[in-house]
Amino acid sequence: MKTTDITLRLEQYDIDELNAADRELVEAATKATERSYAPYSHFSVGAAIRLDNGVIVEGANQENVAYPSGTCAERSACFYAGATYPGVAFRAIAIAARGTDGELTENATAPCGACRQALLEYEKLAGAPVRVLLRSRDKVVVAPSIASLLPLAFVDFN
Ligand code: THU
Repeated sequence: MKTTDITLRLEQYDIDELNAADRELVEAATKATERSYAPYSHFSVGAAIRLDNGVIVEGANQENVAYPSGTCAERSACFYAGATYPGVAFRAIAIAARGTDGELTENATAPCGACRQALLEYEKLAGAPVRVLLRSRDKVVVAPSIASLLPLAFVDFN
């Protein structure tokens, strides 16, 4: 019998401790929450992806009266980036959310499993870790990669 331990090292920063590029990305995700369409959950999520060409692509959750037809902020940003800048590597993604009170959530919101799987595809294409910055009201938790958030991911069907 063999056991394997999987560890995840998260860093937590005050927003003003971040470097300028990361702060800009977190602010873009925060701003993107305002473009959420969430009439059903009233939970407004914003995501911002920094690409290797320096562009920041933003997304926000888009809900639908047929609930499963809606999508999360992370996938809206990720597919928009892939469709607009095909072949350009992702470098980092920031995520922020506002609760039903309209305020930034007290705890960081992490991407759902489906978004982790979708983002992993682009991390593989990038060939380098895509850092994940999760904003709460006044802190940012940073994970080193998408893969670190999705142990034992499905990676091929051969
Ligand atoms: N949502 C996101 O956009 N990203 C997440 O990481 C978690 C959940 C959205 C989906 C839905 O519109 C709302 O938040 C409530 O689940």
